[in-house]
Amino acid sequence: MPLVTTPRWRALAAIASLALASSTAAVAQTPVAPPADFAICSACHEITAKAAPSLGPNLFGIGGRKAGGAESYDYSDAMKAYAKPWTAETLQAFILDPAKAVPGNKMDYPGANDAASAKAIADYLMTLKG
Ligand code: HEC
Repeated sequence: MPLVTTPRWRALAAIASLALASSTAAVAQTPVAPPADFAICSACHEITAKAAPSLGPNLFGIGGRKAGGAESYDYSDAMKAYAKPWTAETLQAFILDPAKAVPGNKMDYPGANDAASAKAIADYLMTLKG
């Protein structure tokens, strides 16, 4: 019997092709669709790699970046002083109530309708990376 038809080999081949399929899927990953509530953010924020800042800083790669850390953007002193890394949690708090999370910041947005909406937007922001 040829080697490739032994059950052990077939099992190994199946594992190898599964691993290949999942790594291919990771490379070809399509961008996650933004939640509907993100529309207003787009008025002031770009979300693609290397896009120049608009009214607000570019949000591409925001997850893990330090607040006030995008190059070529003129942040308020309040945002620069806050300087915490943006995580799903810090983003949710900021989006829910920007004035409370970072007092004195210059983002002209009153906050999301509720915690669930803020969480959906924060989780979406965490997917914006290369
Ligand atoms: C009217 C314009 C405007 C809108 C609408 C707006 N932003 Fe902003 N955003 C800004 C500005 C301006 C800043 C810079 C704040 C500062 O320097 O104090 C900012 C800063 C931020 C930051 C910090 C970025 C960094 O690099 O540290 C995040 C995150 C953010 N906005 C997310 C959002 C999200 C999510 C929404 C929608 C829910 C939103 N913004 C809506 C103008 C806006």
